[in-house]
Amino acid sequence: MAKAALIDGKAFATSLRGRIATAVAGLKKNHDITPGLAVVLVGEDPASQVYVRNKGKQTAEAGMNSYEHKLETDTSEADLLALIEKLNNDDKVHGILVQLPLPDHIDETKVINSVSPDKDVDGFHIINAGRLATGQPALTSCTPVGCVMLAKDALGNLSGLEAVVVGRSNIVGKPVAQLLLAENCTVTIAHSRTKNLDEVCRRADILIAAVGRPQMVKGSWVKKGACVIDVGINRIDGENGKTRLVGDVDFDEAVNVAGSITPVPGGVGPMTIACLLRNTVQAACMINDVPVPEM
Ligand code: GUN
Repeated sequence: MAKAALIDGKAFATSLRGRIATAVAGLKKNHDITPGLAVVLVGEDPASQVYVRNKGKQTAEAGMNSYEHKLETDTSEADLLALIEKLNNDDKVHGILVQLPLPDHIDETKVINSVSPDKDVDGFHIINAGRLATGQPALTSCTPVGCVMLAKDALGNLSGLEAVVVGRSNIVGKPVAQLLLAENCTVTIAHSRTKNLDEVCRRADILIAAVGRPQMVKGSWVKKGACVIDVGINRIDGENGKTRLVGDVDFDEAVNVAGSITPVPGGVGPMTIACLLRNTVQAACMINDVPVPEM
């Protein structure tokens, strides 16, 4: 049986970062603007530490300024809010990202909404979520933007296609559904409590899996020839006592049915940071009233 085409998110992200670096060089040369991204990490979650390190490295590689703020796990909410206020007022900082999850004693929603909407490169602020939902220009969450870029690269025009999003989080499920709607898809948001979830998924020309459950979406749930975008990153027990990363899709089954599919790792993952850098450039341009370059 013919196997699905692999969607190479790693290569796509590398080329996107190249275009971002070119845009940054142009901003420096023509407008004397160096985009700056501040990343705030509270605590010592190992996965978050890896993300933050990679963000800092790739920000610098694109020619932008990277500011890292690492705070102790027991940092008070008031101290975190005070730091964000300082960054909101710092002209060198165009993007602010507070790494999630935050420790339990901190109100995540309050923190997200304390970031200036103009610097909210995560697109999590209620104003940016509202702008996206109402079709107004917005800073938009990075993983959803990456998913739609990959789907468009695989399929071309998405207009009129059936899209099914499995997962309803504020970070991925809801915003990716909004972006697909803006591409004129017919969008269904399904989730772990959806009845006949397998049948719903089989309707999809574009199937986005973002539920956070390892290998939940089976090959038999995938319509023949569909484009499958797997947002999941789950660590499971593998062979020889080692762990391995798998997505929310059972890749080995789905690859025999789909037309195109993202691998895990190397699919959506690398797109997230690339889109974060793109949002930072966009924020720097908008704050300085300069046209946003093509990236
Ligand atoms: N933790 C996991 N993914 C993300 C993300 O996209 N943004 C932030 N801020 N934290 C995360």
